[in-house]
Amino acid sequence: MARILVTGSAGGLGLGAARRLTAEGHEVIVHARTVDRARDLRSLIERGAQLVTGDLSDMNETRGIVEQVSTFGKPDAVIHNAGVISGRELVPVNVVAPYLLTVLLPAARLVYLSSSMHRGGRSDVTGVDWSGTHATASYSDSKLLVTMLAAAVGRVRRDVYSNAVDPGWVPTRMGGPGAPDDLELGHRTQAWLAAGEDPATHTSAYWHHQRQQRPDPAVTDPARQDALLEALTAHTGVRLDGTTA
Ligand SMILES: NC(=O)c1ccc[n+]([C@@H]2O[C@H](COP(=O)([O-])OP(=O)(O)OC[C@H]3O[C@@H](n4cnc5c(N)ncnc54)[C@H](OP(=O)(O)O)[C@@H]3O)[C@@H](O)[C@H]2O)c1
Repeated sequence: MARILVTGSAGGLGLGAARRLTAEGHEVIVHARTVDRARDLRSLIERGAQLVTGDLSDMNETRGIVEQVSTFGKPDAVIHNAGVISGRELVPVNVVAPYLLTVLLPAARLVYLSSSMHRGGRSDVTGVDWSGTHATASYSDSKLLVTMLAAAVGRVRRDVYSNAVDPGWVPTRMGGPGAPDDLELGHRTQAWLAAGEDPATHTSAYWHHQRQQRPDPAVTDPARQDALLEALTAHTGVRLDGTTA
């Protein structure tokens, strides 16, 4: 059984993945922005899940999440699920926080929430405001960048499985009540990759409903990946290998 952190697990796809993994007997670390927002996590906590809190748009709070997680021991897997669909927090929450957590919380299996909308995104990092003071990116941009991050981690860190998942368009708060895809299928792939019991998951790839797909060509372009890693290093002050920049 594995120890697995699921960010943004107080609702939607994150809660679904956390419930599934808890039911399978894994040691799940759930995450909410604040204790107040963790209300829907009560039953999982009663069943043994550990709670960590913090706002992922704030790098100091993200570092605080790392400290809290460390008190439970090193996670085997992290599902970088938390995300927003609009606003100034798009880049800090959807891209910077997954990078910082990847650097500060080494784990053997990493799962990043992508979207089919990454295909319409911009991969050029010139002019991106990583701090979120100004809105400089669209949702599609942020999902392309986090999908590039997943692929970059898989390329550079040969000791981890780093996967990105398109969950489909599903009826969560973000997806809206009219979303056409299956909510259950929307979190199955993330949980399956994080548990890592099936040898088919021992890879670094882009997935939809437990099948590999070819992402936008920018995702697998090493030069674009390196430009992204350089920009994130400059913004956070830490390199992917954990050293101070
Ligand atoms: N739903 C879809 O159709 C769809 C499609 C493609 C990809 N995705 C991706 O799937 C992931 C989960 O989406 P969802 O549909 O489950 O959305 P959701 O229901 O809106 O849940 C998002 C989660 O992220 C958390 N979060 C957002 N900003 C945060 C912050 N600054 N600090 C801490 N937590 C924060 C939210 O917490 P609060 O409640 O405190 O805001 C919430 O728990 C996202 O990365 C999304 O981009 C979803």
